[in-house]
Amino acid sequence: MVGASCLAGLVNFGVFMSLGRDLVENDPAMVGFTILALAQFVLAIVAIVFAIKSLAAKQGGVGPLLIGLLSTLGAPSGWFLGILASGLSGMGGAWGRPLRIRGRQLHPNLREGSDWTRGDRPDGARLDAATREALGALWLHDAQKEHASVPAFSRISWMLAAVGAPAELMAGAHKAALEEIEHTRLCFALAAGYQGRSQSVEAMPELLLGMDFGKDPLITLAVESLEDGCLLEDYNADVAAACAKECQEPITRGVLETIAVEERSHADYSWEVLAWVLEREPARIGTAVETALAQLTRYPRPTAVSDDKHHLLAAADADALRAHGRLPDAVWAELWTARQAQTVHRVRELLTRVRSQDPVTAPEPRPGDRSAA
Ligand SMILES: [Fe+2]
Ligand SMILES: [Fe+2]
Repeated sequence: MVGASCLAGLVNFGVFMSLGRDLVENDPAMVGFTILALAQFVLAIVAIVFAIKSLAAKQGGVGPLLIGLLSTLGAPSGWFLGILASGLSGMGGAWGRPLRIRGRQLHPNLREGSDWTRGDRPDGARLDAATREALGALWLHDAQKEHASVPAFSRISWMLAAVGAPAELMAGAHKAALEEIEHTRLCFALAAGYQGRSQSVEAMPELLLGMDFGKDPLITLAVESLEDGCLLEDYNADVAAACAKECQEPITRGVLETIAVEERSHADYSWEVLAWVLEREPARIGTAVETALAQLTRYPRPTAVSDDKHHLLAAADADALRAHGRLPDAVWAELWTARQAQTVHRVRELLTRVRSQDPVTAPEPRPGDRSAA
């Protein structure tokens, strides 16, 4: 019992280490993490009971008793710390739509190479080495996330075809995917300019596992359009525009301006998809959107820098980072609060409009209304 309890604890630790932040974003993993913690707790209690019986019979059992007690305490505290750590960890922002495969967010790893690098490179010669390294790392992170946005939009087009979407929405998904390819190349070019070496992406064999569209592709389309598109891509555009305003390096500023305009168009596209799905089935999809809207404040905010790059930024020149279009996290947080409020307001307006056009969900006209006359 003691061994089984410790084993459950070790497996749970492995789940946490492999998923990190994804743990709180991945419902099946979260359920598994909780069940394992419960199993560890129950097995440890049983081990304690056996150890006490063994001690009472003067057959020893001090060791198992102590390990059982530690495992009993370790299960809830490990569970709580795991949730806290994964919930608080910063994932770092980027200018693209997240790629979700089987409930997990994916992006490619990096390798040496220049096949994904295209565009002008900023001159970082006047910057110190630490600042150049930090700027390069930040743009590499963005390049990874931009690259993931390409299959993310392919996945949307796949879902749209599955539910019989019109040609314009299909075209929009492919146009956005092409723009994300260009964003990826531009981000790699900026990284190469700052760091003095080119990097590229590794293959993503996880994509061969196939896609998961949830139980209901219409609801998946609606909820993901709301969260990853209407909220996140509009926010990406807000941040890129704010960064472009402060950026004094012309090549980097040009890239930020392009990204700001095109991310805004990706957000507009998501609003179109959301409206189309809602109009298909106002009552059912409207309920799902209301539920997602109520939880929108739980959507993890992209941070200015991911946890693994904090040390690079700590060594860099803060003023130079800003002059090269990298704003501090406090500005990102302000923009997030404003964007969340605007998204909620706009979704409510959309729901009202769609429901008013739907004979099933439209409110009963009141006496005296012009429409009732
Ligand atoms: Fe992008
Ligand atoms: Fe995008």
